[in-house]
Amino acid sequence: EKAGFDHFMMKEIHDQPKAYRDTMGARLDPSGSKVVLDEMNMSEEQIRAIRNVHIIACGTAYHAGLVGKSIIEKLARIPVEVDVASEYRYREPIINKDTLVIVVSQSGETADTLAALREAKRNGAAVLAITNVVGSSVAREADHVIVTWAGPEIAVASTKAYTSQLIAFYLFGLQLAQTLGTQDAGFIANVIAEMKLLPEKVEQILAQADSIKGWAEQVAAHDNLFFIGRGLDYAVALEGSLKLKEISYIHSEAYAAGELKHGTLALIEDDVPVIALGTQEDLLEKTISNIKEVKARGAHVFGVQSEGQTELAKAVDGVFTIPRTLTLLTPALSVIPLQLLSYYASLARGNDVDKPRNLAKSVTVE
Ligand code: M6R
Repeated sequence: EKAGFDHFMMKEIHDQPKAYRDTMGARLDPSGSKVVLDEMNMSEEQIRAIRNVHIIACGTAYHAGLVGKSIIEKLARIPVEVDVASEYRYREPIINKDTLVIVVSQSGETADTLAALREAKRNGAAVLAITNVVGSSVAREADHVIVTWAGPEIAVASTKAYTSQLIAFYLFGLQLAQTLGTQDAGFIANVIAEMKLLPEKVEQILAQADSIKGWAEQVAAHDNLFFIGRGLDYAVALEGSLKLKEISYIHSEAYAAGELKHGTLALIEDDVPVIALGTQEDLLEKTISNIKEVKARGAHVFGVQSEGQTELAKAVDGVFTIPRTLTLLTPALSVIPLQLLSYYASLARGNDVDKPRNLAKSVTVE
């Protein structure tokens, strides 16, 4: 059932091209110009009534929500807040009938996420669930549902569920843009065309998986490291850091690259590994200057860049290149080398990759 892989996690990392295809599936109009999310059961009138969006989730699903915020704000120009479910309920969020609450949950059974969903409904908000399990509690109680077709995820560390959640957010963002007219048809068609190319680009990344092993072995020799990035790269850095902590037990922290000098730089000393994401072209120059700051303090920097860029490679000690795509779509590619990094680091440390200590696949207690 591991399809020839040693662990479920590696199998699930390799399931991603299919998970992307299945999640996009029939939701892209054959003409290639439109998204069709009728199954979500949200009328044009309901879409037009949305004034603000709250995204609520835990762990990796929360990190998908951070990317979701950028997607919805960029495509539909609707303000979005993102909260960890266990915090949301207790902060007296301002929810009303114009608020769309989006809960994101692979299992659809996470206790805090479910409680936040109920709280949102009590306050009159409409709830959209993005979940991987048809018929889960979250799916049953939400008003609208987008199912991610990632297939069962067994490894505790979430991989294909996260990337399928990103695909769901792209689809939803495009649906909003289409209905609200916030983006023109040509732009939408271009995003769709680029989305369709993502699965084969993931395959290209997976074909180079071995090149991450060396990095992972170096990382596994340390007890402390940093992930840095700006914009969407920062959101992906947070996910990369969680994944690494979860299965390798190596402490890491994800930092917005521009925020380092406000404290964290004090922790950089000789040989501390720093994973620097530099896929956001408009922010690259700034990220590179932050890389120079850590290099000057002795850090050993591994970079992730997009094909066609040359500047990042000059500033780092090792680089992984992902295929080129639209800036907005890069998280669906840049997270893959980080998944592989945590997998190989966990292996190098001799850990139980699929069943990390202290953790459960589905967290049904608050
Ligand atoms: O089933 P859910 O998506 O609601 O689970 C949320 C988190 O517990 C989950 O993403 C967790 O953070 C993963 N183990 C991370 O890899």
